[in-house]
Amino acid sequence: MKKLFLLIVTLTGLAALMAAPVGSRLSLIPEPVSVITHEGSFQLPAEVRIAAPAGEDTRFVKSLLEEKLGAAPGRLVRWVTGDREADIVLMLNNADDAETGEEGYRLQVTPQQITLRANKPAGLLYGVQTLFQLMPPQIEGGSRDEGTEWQIPLVEIVDYPRVGWRGLMLDVARHFFTVEEVKQYIDMMVKYKYNMFHWHLTDDEGWRIEIKSLPKLTEVGAWRPEQIGWFGDFTPPSPDAPKTYGGYYTHDQIREVIRYAAERNIQVMPEIDVPGHSSAALAAYPELACFPGSGDHFVRTGAPFLDWNTGGRPAAIFENTLNPASEKVYAFMDKVLTEVAALFPFEYIHTGGDEAPYTFWEKSPEVKQLMKREQLEDMAAVQSYFGKRVEKIILAKGKKMMGWDEILEGGITPTTALMSWRGIQHGIEASNSGHYVVMSPSNYVYIDLMQGDLSTDPRVYNSLRLNRTYQFDPIPEGANPAYILGGQANLWTEQIYHIRQAEYMTWPRAFAVAESLWSPREKKDWNRFVEKVEDHFNRFDYSRTKYSPAMYEPVVTVKKEGDDYFVTLTPEIEGLSIHVSFDASTPDCFSPRVTAPLKVPRNAYVMRIVSYRDGKPAGRMMHISVDDLKKRVR
Ligand code: ACM
Repeated sequence: MKKLFLLIVTLTGLAALMAAPVGSRLSLIPEPVSVITHEGSFQLPAEVRIAAPAGEDTRFVKSLLEEKLGAAPGRLVRWVTGDREADIVLMLNNADDAETGEEGYRLQVTPQQITLRANKPAGLLYGVQTLFQLMPPQIEGGSRDEGTEWQIPLVEIVDYPRVGWRGLMLDVARHFFTVEEVKQYIDMMVKYKYNMFHWHLTDDEGWRIEIKSLPKLTEVGAWRPEQIGWFGDFTPPSPDAPKTYGGYYTHDQIREVIRYAAERNIQVMPEIDVPGHSSAALAAYPELACFPGSGDHFVRTGAPFLDWNTGGRPAAIFENTLNPASEKVYAFMDKVLTEVAALFPFEYIHTGGDEAPYTFWEKSPEVKQLMKREQLEDMAAVQSYFGKRVEKIILAKGKKMMGWDEILEGGITPTTALMSWRGIQHGIEASNSGHYVVMSPSNYVYIDLMQGDLSTDPRVYNSLRLNRTYQFDPIPEGANPAYILGGQANLWTEQIYHIRQAEYMTWPRAFAVAESLWSPREKKDWNRFVEKVEDHFNRFDYSRTKYSPAMYEPVVTVKKEGDDYFVTLTPEIEGLSIHVSFDASTPDCFSPRVTAPLKVPRNAYVMRIVSYRDGKPAGRMMHISVDDLKKRVR
């Protein structure tokens, strides 16, 4: 009898397993605060009846549900008013649910019904994103599989974010992205519960925001000769080279992006990067420079114009800083900020402040006079003077100022907020002295850095692997949490020529950042995260979003001992078998498997590397010439 009972239990368990949808392990990114699962599933009926609150503020989430579910083969969406007859019920709480707060939600899936409750429409939006992630990947579109089982696992989820500022920055100056592409980027952000789009709108290589009172900013500053190759190392273009590359956003387009983002609970923070990074502004209005008549004021193309080998802040070969001693500059800033403040509803305007070379300030008689008049001791104090003048303009327009952490050097006002990018230390210090801080340290969240090997990724000065990004903690030890607004990853686009590459650089690292910003610290689990990333790669194949497979490819390090070179291949994730050849053949799983450092054969000229997982190739074949290997010796 006991055996029969056991058999029945086992068979029932098996049947439940078999009935579960394919790939039914939960793969939620970011990981929710609390998930309870139950056996079984909710079967999405052919006609999906949805009840949701009326009103403009839930219009977008309703349209999203209708669009996604209505596009699933064989599904129709019908709106109903009675909760009891609905398959999916969205509710806004009458009395505030303190635990879930402004952006959280409670999602329950039973065999009969899906209910989603939140205090605010933002919570409903995020709950719906989680619901989509509980559905088969075909919900993401692409070539939808007619045979999809539209089953949803039974869960009870309580969820809310760890920090309020969950940002991604896109640099549209080095390379330009159209409004449609920016929207596409924002579409991806909302799926992973980001709520801040930092729009880096101006830099040496382009001015991308229309300023009606200063038309030359975009007539001149938005255009440059096109060059392709390794940005930063181009040959200088001839002065008469046609300026065919560029673009900018009109006021209407900016309002459109802000509206689009707001529907998705995403705020847009503009950045006008001054006093450095201003070549495009100086190309348009050279009178804003210390040396207006130099004839050297151009929109930069990616040909060298700064010297980075100073061990600290760069030196300028060509002037790219506004003249802090000129009243024309403050009149200019007032005009720019008047229009920026009127366009962007967000409370902060980011005014850069990073990497301003002091080279030309040091040579300027006007700056010397300013220092004497204002009793400014050094160039950091000059930059601080500039920053304080700019902040006054911003405050007068009812906005607040944020800047990169260099602005701390000469001192800032108590009301200035800081974005900590040169590591976390500046952010920790600023938070302890009562400044609001967004953590964006380059050594964790600079997603312009290579995520894979030099042999597979465009060359950038450093690399940043997924596992490192996953260790990002926006509230590090020593910081005052009351002043940490949150965190953000930054995508600088020197080496990123188009939106597909922007996607490739963003994902999967932005999964790691999303989880670092949203999920409780104790819920993070690297091995589990990797499994989820693989499931989301599958989703991206449906949505046709590009991502980097670099986590399947080993980290390559080289050592020299005597005349011999040894290569160590370190896998980033578990479960890989790595195979190599030194004889120029294409390795496969029959090639030697790597288990220890490899000695490079004396006359080999190329090393090829491939990873396998569960008997199948994973990631890309890496080809590294032996000459390149030798250059990697540390
Ligand atoms: C920066 O990366 N220069 C802020």
